[in-house]
Amino acid sequence: MSEKHIITLTVNGVTHTAEAEPRMHLGDFLRLELALTGTHLGCEHGVCGACTVLVGGEAVRSCLMLAVQADGARVTTIEGIAAADGSLHPLQAAFHAHHGLQCGFCTPGMIMSLAAYLRDHPGAGEAELRDALSGNICRCTGYQAIIESGLAAARAMGGKAD
Ligand code: FES
Ligand code: FES
Repeated sequence: MSEKHIITLTVNGVTHTAEAEPRMHLGDFLRLELALTGTHLGCEHGVCGACTVLVGGEAVRSCLMLAVQADGARVTTIEGIAAADGSLHPLQAAFHAHHGLQCGFCTPGMIMSLAAYLRDHPGAGEAELRDALSGNICRCTGYQAIIESGLAAARAMGGKAD
């Protein structure tokens, strides 16, 4: 068995130090070592987008990044996106209001992808949002309600996401 490494990273504003095997990806680290199970793992090979988190503010597929590569990084997961007082992030509120989910498996990845995109593209329209979510797969909704949720959030956010 390969030797474990001690890594330290800040997740949702809290600094964690824990052991990770060299081959453990960030998604498994978040779920198994930090019990942050809001990050979902679907394909585990970079196709479905369900595992998307923010690393240094950028959307990253956590199944494609080794935990040891995130040593020292600032990570935001779906558990950390609401305000400190517990009020929903505009994307969470919009997905709720516009029925942007059915089973919810893809939802954390959708929201984290959109959070980074709308921060950088606050005036994004439907075509841009469809492009931005082209790497996030949903097997339930047909995407229309997801796009409507994203557009509603874009109107509400005024360019702030992470
Ligand atoms: S689980 Fe990471 S892209 Fe599918
Ligand atoms: S809501 Fe079920 S996979 Fe998207």
